[in-house]
Amino acid sequence: LASVEVDVSSLQPGSSLIVKWRGKPVVVRNRTEKEMKDGEAVNLGDLKDPIARNANLPSDAPATDANRTTPGKEAWMVMVQVCTHLGCIPLGQEGDFGGWFCPCHGSQYDTAGRIRKGPAPENMAIPVFKFISDTKILIG
Ligand code: FES
Repeated sequence: LASVEVDVSSLQPGSSLIVKWRGKPVVVRNRTEKEMKDGEAVNLGDLKDPIARNANLPSDAPATDANRTTPGKEAWMVMVQVCTHLGCIPLGQEGDFGGWFCPCHGSQYDTAGRIRKGPAPENMAIPVFKFISDTKILIG
């Protein structure tokens, strides 16, 4: 399917679901206050990949926490959950940065899915998506 519609009405803060889009797992996570604050507190100079990697933004947009989400819905992460090293599927809410941890070679991502440690070169990708209502997201 080129696009997929996701009902997120059941996702409380701190919970996620995964949908398949173009053969890849896409995680939709309703982040907690703490996850958002942790993501916002990161100094951009500390990022290994300073680019947002958000298909909804210009290709040189910086990797701020806000640029990893969508305006007005900053709690929500919608992200291709595929490690940018060799394509394993990272585990959610694991590792030193409270985001994602890749069990294959130990890459660690923060609460905005930005690479922070390990061999992966890039932040995990944000696909084209938008909220089509308060409880529905269209991916692709
Ligand atoms: Fe994720 Fe190598 S595939 S760290």
